Amino acid sequence: MDDLRVKYLKLIADASDESSLEDLRVQAVGKKGEISLQMRSLGKMTPEERQLAGPALNTLKDEVNSALLARRSSLADAALEERLKSEWLDVTLPSRTERQGSIHPISQVWEEVIAIFADLGFGVAEGPQIESDWYNFDALNIPGHHPARAEMDTFYTYRAEDDDRPPHVLRTHTSPVQIRSMEKMGAPLRIICPGRVYRADYDQTHTPMFHQVEGLAVDTDISMANLKWCLEEFVKAFFEVDSVELRFRASHFPFTEPSAEVDIRCSWSGGQLKVGEGNDWMEILGSGMVHPKVLKAGGIDPQKYQGFAFGLGIDRIAMLKYGIPDLRAFFDSDLRWLRHYGFLALDKPGLISGLSS
Ligand code: PHE
Repeated sequence: MDDLRVKYLKLIADASDESSLEDLRVQAVGKKGEISLQMRSLGKMTPEERQLAGPALNTLKDEVNSALLARRSSLADAALEERLKSEWLDVTLPSRTERQGSIHPISQVWEEVIAIFADLGFGVAEGPQIESDWYNFDALNIPGHHPARAEMDTFYTYRAEDDDRPPHVLRTHTSPVQIRSMEKMGAPLRIICPGRVYRADYDQTHTPMFHQVEGLAVDTDISMANLKWCLEEFVKAFFEVDSVELRFRASHFPFTEPSAEVDIRCSWSGGQLKVGEGNDWMEILGSGMVHPKVLKAGGIDPQKYQGFAFGLGIDRIAMLKYGIPDLRAFFDSDLRWLRHYGFLALDKPGLISGLSS
């Protein structure tokens, strides 16, 4: 047995590749291998002999098997090492230009908006697209009977009467993220939340899924003036111009008091949409001072803190900035449209490098 051990351990250590290792395995512990044959001869031994030879043969077999395993893995390591030395990839090579994809204008504008508000000190928050009706409505001072629930053309995933789970909706706006952020972070607070929202509506300027950016700033000395300044700074930076004409229209939202809708001057003449000229106005956002009940729902003391909030239509400002007349085209996935209006994948918008250049 010692001879067998010395012989096979040496042969295994010297094996130079997978296949000679496999030959050795068959030769030693295969069905008709030398060690297997020895094990078969155990039956012919006397019980005393067997008691000695049995465990010794088993140990030998185990030793040979583990030597085979160890040699196999070191051969594999060596082979990989060899490959790594000879194969290489130039990661600095340019990608194949003939098949370049493009960044969708919505994604581009989404990033542009984040870049601008990040510069103004706002963090980015997120929330779920399937939302409980408490976050989407009640916490925002829109109780069950409120007409705003009907006005929003809500998609329900299930209503209270369907079963005993709390009713859920596809969020109709990004405002529920106000509540979630206040709960999570408390005051003071400065966040934006870009995201998808859903309403049953469909025409040239409405699609059932669209995008908003929510903004929320809460502190001990926030006023409507802060809101106005932030929005004006944003609009100038976004449209990359020195001045843009905005119209603040008194309005009503259950979750803000006072409230204002903001329109931007534009023209639609000849089917071309242009910003900053003409006699048309396009509504781009709703805003106001956060209602005390909303602060309270988010766990913030309205005696101590005030805040402003706004909800901005990403698709709307993308249409205005890039002269895209029909909102529905955003979601057609027409390759020619995407090539025409898309952006280069590696051009990350930033305030320093230029937003859209
Ligand atoms: N949530 C409102 C909407 O979707 C917009 C809004 C947000 C208004 C925040 C005021 C404050 O229409």
